[in-house]
Amino acid sequence: MDDSELRTTEGRPARELWDLDASFHHLNHGSFGAVPRAVLTVQQERRREMESNPVRWFSTLAERLPGVRDELAERLHAPADDTVLVANASAGASVLFRNLAQRRSRVHVAVTDHGYGAVSMGAERLARETGGDYREIALPLEASDEEVLERIADHLATHQTDLLVLDQVTSATARRMPAREATRIAHRHGALVLIDGAHAPGALEDPVIREADVWIGNLHKFWCAPRGTAVLVRNNPDLDLYPLVDSWGGHLPFPDRFDHQGTVDVTAWFAASTAFDHLQRELGWDRIREHAAAMMRLAEREIGQALEAVGVLDPVADTGHAFAPMRLFRLTGDRRWDHDTVDALRVPFMTSTHCIAAFTEFHGVGYLRLSAAPYTTADDIAAMASQGIPTLAAMTGSLPLERTAS
Ligand SMILES: Cc1ncc(COP(=O)(O)O)c(C=O)c1O
Repeated sequence: MDDSELRTTEGRPARELWDLDASFHHLNHGSFGAVPRAVLTVQQERRREMESNPVRWFSTLAERLPGVRDELAERLHAPADDTVLVANASAGASVLFRNLAQRRSRVHVAVTDHGYGAVSMGAERLARETGGDYREIALPLEASDEEVLERIADHLATHQTDLLVLDQVTSATARRMPAREATRIAHRHGALVLIDGAHAPGALEDPVIREADVWIGNLHKFWCAPRGTAVLVRNNPDLDLYPLVDSWGGHLPFPDRFDHQGTVDVTAWFAASTAFDHLQRELGWDRIREHAAAMMRLAEREIGQALEAVGVLDPVADTGHAFAPMRLFRLTGDRRWDHDTVDALRVPFMTSTHCIAAFTEFHGVGYLRLSAAPYTTADDIAAMASQGIPTLAAMTGSLPLERTAS
C-alpha cells in the first residue's frame, strides 16, 4: 500500500473514484482532465432524462439553466448575473473576440509568448481582421511576478493596446501569472483584459479574477466536470456578449441569451456542480490541492534525479511562479523543438512506457510537463522516473517522429 495515496473520508484510495485504466500511470491531468465515476453517473441520468423525452428536455432547458449557472457561480465565488456557461475556454475567448470584431475597428491586441497557442491565434485574427496590431510580450520563463508586471507595464506604456490577453496559468510553461495585478495595470492604460483561467478552477481556491473584463475557466480540467463545461465571467457591463451559436435567446439580455444554444447536449453542465461537491465530500478540496502539490514536489526530486542520470543538467525548469499541481522538466538532448515535434512524443511515449505526460515547447526548448490529480500516487512518479525517463532519453535521441496528436 502506498502511504502517500490520497484517501477518501472512508479510507478508500482516491483513484477508486475514477475509472482510469490502471495499466497506465496518469500524469497528465492538465490536458483533458478526468471525470470521476459518480459525476459520469449524474450526467448519464440527465442523458436518460433527455432521451426519455427530448421535446420536454429541450423545451424546458432554458428555464433550468439559470439554476445551473447560479450553483456554479456560488462555488466559484462569481457573480451569478455575470456568469455564463460555454463549451470550453476556447469558445469563451471566441465570444469576446467576436464581440470586439463586430463592434470596434483597429483592435490592437497584446498577448504574451506564454499564451495558449489556439487562443493567441484567435487574438491574432481579431487584430488582423479589424486592422489592428497584434503583439507578443516576451516574458522569460523564470521571470518573477514583479518582472512580468514590469514587462507588461513597459509594453502598455509604449504600444497602444485595446485588449490584453493573459493566461492565469500557462499551458506550455506551467506557471502562474500575476493576473489580478496585470489587469489593474492594463486598465490604467485603457486596455480591456481577457484572463484565460483555463486551468484555474479547482486548482486555485479562488480562481475567478473579478477585475478582468472577461475571465474564462474550464471546469473540465482540475474541477473534474464532464468535458464541454467552461465558465465565462463578464465583469464589464459595457461588453454586451453573445453566445457563439445564434439561437432563440438572441433577443434576450445577457446572461439569459447564453441559456439558448440550439440543439446541443449540455448534460455535462448539469453534472458540473456535482463534480465539485463530490470531490469536496469524498476528499476535500484543500486536501486535493495539498496532495497535488506534494506529488509535484516528489516529482521534482525523483524525476529530476532520473533526468540527471541521463545527462540533463538542471532538469527542473525554474518557472518563476510555479503552478502547484504541474511541473516542467527539461528534455534530454540539445535539439531545438517546435510545438508539433514535441507534441508528437505524447502517444509513442505513452504506448511504450505506459506513463502519460504532456510535452511542451517554449522558445525552441522541449519540456516534459507533469500534472497531479487526486488519483496521482508516488508509484506513478516512481514509474515515470524508472520506466519513463530512460525510454524518453532513448526516444529523444532517435527522432524524427511522425506527428500523432494535437
Ligand atoms: C491556458 C489555456 N487556454 C485555453 C485552453 C483551451 O481549453 P479548451 O480546449 O478546453 O478550450 C487550454 C487548454 O489546455 C489552456 O491551457
